[in-house]
Amino acid sequence: MERSKKPSAINAPSGGPQPQVDISSDNSRVTASLPTGESVDVLLHGATIISWKSGKQENLWLSEKAVLDGSKAVRGGIPVVFPVFGPPPPNHATSKLPQHGFARTSRWEYLGKSTSESGALSQGGDDCVKLDFGLSSSNLSADAKKAWPYDFGLIYSVTLGRDGLQTVMTVRNEGKEPFEFQFLLHTYLAVKDISKVTVTGLMGAIYTDKVLNATNHTETHAALPITAETDRVYASLAQDTTSVLQDGKPRFDVVRDNLDDTVVWNPWREKAAAMSDFAPKDGWRNMLCVEVGSVSGWQKLEAGDTFEAGQVIRSLL
Ligand code: BG6
Repeated sequence: MERSKKPSAINAPSGGPQPQVDISSDNSRVTASLPTGESVDVLLHGATIISWKSGKQENLWLSEKAVLDGSKAVRGGIPVVFPVFGPPPPNHATSKLPQHGFARTSRWEYLGKSTSESGALSQGGDDCVKLDFGLSSSNLSADAKKAWPYDFGLIYSVTLGRDGLQTVMTVRNEGKEPFEFQFLLHTYLAVKDISKVTVTGLMGAIYTDKVLNATNHTETHAALPITAETDRVYASLAQDTTSVLQDGKPRFDVVRDNLDDTVVWNPWREKAAAMSDFAPKDGWRNMLCVEVGSVSGWQKLEAGDTFEAGQVIRSLL
């Protein structure tokens, strides 16, 4: 499927040493690194990216108490939310699923790597590496399959480039009837000091404020400061890029691809204290979730159809 608003490519000049890909001896994670020092670490549990480094700089926040053994969703990194965002609504086909669905708690398969594909990112070079992960209805736990009995196939592609990380999901309806789903990439960005962070690219958008009884508001800030618990679903954003600034300087650009919504979340002091897997307790000062997705409505996928969407995050140091 050709997407009208594909983000521009991460530069990938060819030649020189090759990217390295390693699978851990217990088969629980895949790590890729570029000769220039960038790296990414992906758990098969949830296909959760738990680290993305630009040189020595870690770009993602991961709780010191994150549970990585597959028994719980990972608190940090980039958990994948599918096929429902938040608590499932009653009277919907997803209503029996847990909050944020099953993708983040299922074990995915590692499908392999590619280093020199042409396409949005690599331009035929070898300074990019793409890792593919798969999840289908046949891999689901009996509980999840029973709660959402559709035939689907997901392919999640994680591409590490010199100046960014791209994560793209392909959802295919492999059954005989249509299904509806929501999808979101729950990215925990690492920030130096939340009190000096601002977020741009949201002005004029309507958002649902979950902190204020899910009431709707219009964003009036060109540069939004984060000064308290924040849990907002910005819908139908006009701009493709949401930027995070630290001390007034660009730190991350998060570029949506075929996705209209973005959630901005910081639990702040009390909510962080209430989460058993959130550590250190003042870790909320060093993270901000900017979560691209399609969550304000439902994507309907007919039998045999495919949906493809994702993000590019650029680390701007
Ligand atoms: C965000 C939601 O996406 O995820 C919040 O908007 C929620 O409402 C947060 O609290 C974390 O969810 P969970 O299930 O990982 O604790």
